[in-house]
Amino acid sequence: MNIVRTVRELRAAVAHARGEDKRIGFVPTMGNLHEGHAALVEKASQRVDFVVASIFVNPLQFGPKEDLASYPRTLEADKERLLQAGCNLLFAPTVEEMYPHGMGGQTRVSVPGLSDGLCGASRPGHFEGVATVVCKLFNMVQPDLAVFGQKDFQQLAVIRSLVSDLNMPIQIIGEPTVRAADGLALSSRNGYLDVQQRSVAPAIYRTLSELAAAIQAGNNDFQALLTQGLATLQKAGFRPDYLEIREANSLKPASPTDQHLVILAAAFIGTTRLIDNLAFERQPTA
Ligand code: PAF
Repeated sequence: MNIVRTVRELRAAVAHARGEDKRIGFVPTMGNLHEGHAALVEKASQRVDFVVASIFVNPLQFGPKEDLASYPRTLEADKERLLQAGCNLLFAPTVEEMYPHGMGGQTRVSVPGLSDGLCGASRPGHFEGVATVVCKLFNMVQPDLAVFGQKDFQQLAVIRSLVSDLNMPIQIIGEPTVRAADGLALSSRNGYLDVQQRSVAPAIYRTLSELAAAIQAGNNDFQALLTQGLATLQKAGFRPDYLEIREANSLKPASPTDQHLVILAAAFIGTTRLIDNLAFERQPTA
């Protein structure tokens, strides 16, 4: 696996692969890679001949009180994981390489509507930071396809929308969330949890699963279900940020007639904010 630090080297390596008629896949990450990321790279390598991954902790998507400084940086272990998963080229730029004129004057990409609620409400500017860096990375790599995790459900919706709105010829693939045996979604932020917090953490997915089961069983009182779900999370030891039932494509509040639903949650354990979601097709009622 080749490792490059500059846009120039990246473009040269991708051009070389293109010259060999290879199709290019891309997996953007912020590093501290786990099995979930490996699954994204594996998916890309099943679909194309040349897989590019990026590792860049993007300052533009962190709020002033968020964990940019402490975000885990584990490049050596990440390289090994990428290699095992079938990555051909790693792009690991510096902040200066990505934002040579600083971030203040950087052209921004915003996806209104989809970016506004849920994580967008509690993390102002977050999705603009994500959309901007993903757009830049897409222009640098110019892949045929890109793979993202469904754990960041809203992010995936934002990226699908930007690719469609800006007419980018890139196929976006969403990969199912990889979970620990007890249901906890794998996340770089799980590393912040102490033993006690880690034992509480699976309650987030358990709660989502209970709500989904109740809806599948015909319960249409979404408000009551959400109140009950919030209470369950609190009882388990979480400080919920949001718990919502949404239509899975538009991310608008779900109505009882919607078929494609997603239940999304964000909640704090101590100072660690975890997110998770569960998308499902509602059985038509008889
Ligand atoms: O999901 C992430 O790790 C990041 O938001 C992404 C897509 C790499 C953009 O920085």
